[in-house]
Amino acid sequence: MASTSEEERGQSRFIMTANHGFAPFAQEELRRLFGSVKSTVLVSGEVFLVTVSYSWQEAVEMITNQAPIFVRHIQPVQCEIAIDNLATGLEQLKSFVMQQNELNGATVSLQVRKTEDSLSEQSAGALREQLLSEFSELNAQFIVQDAEWILSVLVSSDHIYAGVSYPKDNISDWSGGAVRFQREDGQISRAKFKLLEAEKTFGIDFSAFHHALDIGAAPGGWTSFLLERGMHVTAVDPALMHESLKGHAQLKIMRKNASEVKFRDNQFDLLVCDMSWSPKQMVRLVKDLLYALSPGGTAIVTVKLMHKKPMALIREVIASFEEANMQLQYAKQLFHNRDEITLHMIKY
Ligand SMILES: C[S@@+](CC[C@H](N)C(=O)[O-])C[C@H]1O[C@@H](n2cnc3c(N)ncnc32)[C@H](O)[C@@H]1O
Repeated sequence: MASTSEEERGQSRFIMTANHGFAPFAQEELRRLFGSVKSTVLVSGEVFLVTVSYSWQEAVEMITNQAPIFVRHIQPVQCEIAIDNLATGLEQLKSFVMQQNELNGATVSLQVRKTEDSLSEQSAGALREQLLSEFSELNAQFIVQDAEWILSVLVSSDHIYAGVSYPKDNISDWSGGAVRFQREDGQISRAKFKLLEAEKTFGIDFSAFHHALDIGAAPGGWTSFLLERGMHVTAVDPALMHESLKGHAQLKIMRKNASEVKFRDNQFDLLVCDMSWSPKQMVRLVKDLLYALSPGGTAIVTVKLMHKKPMALIREVIASFEEANMQLQYAKQLFHNRDEITLHMIKY
């Protein structure tokens, strides 16, 4: 069952998750770090079981130091149970969990995932509820967020994988890195989730900014977020902004192409751009407006991944911004990014 001997041999296994279709690039990031990486597909294009010649802690350190773009989530596999009968497998899982002394007296977040062809027919939520009652003999307090430990369980068609880790070691403390936000009444666009996620993932204190420039702002999801954080916002877009934003005292709407607008030097301390356009054109337009961002100011920019070589494209975009005194803080494909990534930069 459990494969602690792998740890002793300096090997470890973990499950890596990327946004759908982007696992090959996440695997490339791992190969660059670890050299050869043995991997097995659990969910095509998305979730892989990985074996590396390093302990879990070494692997975590190497991955987090590199701040990968496409590796969204990792979870250790300290217990791997081959199953043809789910009930027997879950019994074995319980015995693994009961042996995890570090969970004694601790707060624990139980995160349960399934593959589509999983042997378990219940939803992941229902399976989680079942496991919570199975593990009730454990002297642990199960909570959802900010727990000391995460107990990750993934049930596929023929295996149960489980592991215990510190939340910070999983890259994201959300199950599988799937960051879920509640949709609000009257929310203008799903795009708002990208900024909410950037706020959490990059640790940005948006309430510290005063004047924001939003390029490619319509229909206004990002603008509404910036207004909620208390900023004065200038929104630039030839397209219409949402009705609900019109007449907002702290909002100036410019229905123009970003190449046609003029501002004062250093007028803004935050510049955001979500133009969903050719990256080359986006970089040119944003660079042409950087005079309006004060030194020390922050830029959050989404980069559409247009062609088949995203790594090369991303390097090019970052290098081009660096020429314009923009220092990269993070480049990351957020859960709410589709065919794009988000850059967090500071002007020096
Ligand atoms: C993905 S939408 C932005 C969504 C927005 N962030 C939100 O939260 O609602 C992209 C927008 O970029 C705008 N856009 C594209 N090219 C532009 C340009 N050259 N100048 C200004 N806006 C542009 C489009 O009109 C479109 O409204």
